[in-house]
Amino acid sequence: MNFRKLGSSDIEASVIGFGAWAIGGWMWGGTEEQDAIDAINTAIDNGVNLIDTAPMYGYGRSEEIIGKAIKGKRNKIVLATKCGLVWDTSDWKEGKGELHFYSDNDTIVKENKNTIRVYKYLRPESIRKEIEQSLKRLNTDYVDLLQTHWQENTTPLEDTIGELEKLKKEGKIRTIGCSNVNLKQLNIYIKSEQLDVDQERFSLIDKNIINDGLLDACDKANVSVFAYSPLANGLLTGKITPQRQFGKGDLRTTNQRFSPENIQKINKKLELLSPIANAHNITITQLIIAWTAAKYKKMHVLCGMRNTKQAAENAKAGNITLTENETNEIENKFKE
Ligand SMILES: NC(=O)c1ccc[n+]([C@@H]2O[C@H](COP(=O)([O-])OP(=O)(O)OC[C@H]3O[C@@H](n4cnc5c(N)ncnc54)[C@H](OP(=O)(O)O)[C@@H]3O)[C@@H](O)[C@H]2O)c1
Repeated sequence: MNFRKLGSSDIEASVIGFGAWAIGGWMWGGTEEQDAIDAINTAIDNGVNLIDTAPMYGYGRSEEIIGKAIKGKRNKIVLATKCGLVWDTSDWKEGKGELHFYSDNDTIVKENKNTIRVYKYLRPESIRKEIEQSLKRLNTDYVDLLQTHWQENTTPLEDTIGELEKLKKEGKIRTIGCSNVNLKQLNIYIKSEQLDVDQERFSLIDKNIINDGLLDACDKANVSVFAYSPLANGLLTGKITPQRQFGKGDLRTTNQRFSPENIQKINKKLELLSPIANAHNITITQLIIAWTAAKYKKMHVLCGMRNTKQAAENAKAGNITLTENETNEIENKFKE
């Protein structure tokens, strides 16, 4: 497994991160707790020490499962969670935060009388409340990284960053990260000299961080990037067939990228990459993960993994180093 330092900190995190959204079940058609715990342990046995979660992933379920899985090995793990998406609005004040979406137990839905309102909310007092809850669920007294999950316009970013800094001084968090930022917001975080990680969507078919200048800005400021959805929710594994049926609430049931026509189109393009994968004696999934890791010297690839088979395959991609010629060839062939 290759390891890289988080931003300017001395925390060594595996290039492959265990992405723990799917194991929360919400938006992924449910979860099997034992499969999830086994998947986490298989990833760890194969060299993964980085785990990324969020309170929102199953309304705390993902964090609770991780808390159980890492019992007895906390000090070997680089634990990353998030703040800023809240669904408990009992102490809600009008004009603070922004409504992000309506949700039920399974997934994001249109508003009805049973829906839960989920807000983007980064007030200092809310961040503090959230981290206390996360620490309980994760069964630990600190996290290695706390990331603001989504940004909002009702709280000055400086107030948010100030609170994160306080939590760092108190030892509740070791580093600070952000996620889903635009370039202007990223630059405010960078200017504070507190930012070690920016987590953004990035894959062979989602390259906005390059086009929007985020990757360049991170590079100049020595900030690590966590690539999320690197397999485009599984589409880039080449293993999704046009006949695949997804569980209730699975985000892929309504995503046009998972139409039978598009699955077929993407799978054909992925087949063109087989000669490169074969030359390395690796699978297409591993090649895609390795491509993502190779795009930036401080990249970590957060892969969703729901069972031991996926965990072993994805973790092993952390040993592969591709040359620039190979990454270019992958991009060119995929365009064909
Ligand atoms: N900051 C944010 O806003 C944000 C947003 C999204 C994600 N994230 C983070 O990024 C992580 C990864 O993103 P993601 O979960 O969206 O997607 P992903 O890694 O692109 O895809 C994960 C899914 O692909 C399938 N898969 C994974 N490995 C496989 C393998 N070896 N063979 C076959 N299928 C495989 C699994 O689904 P099936 O088995 O069901 O097909 C798995 O749940 C998340 O868990 C989370 O930590 C963050």
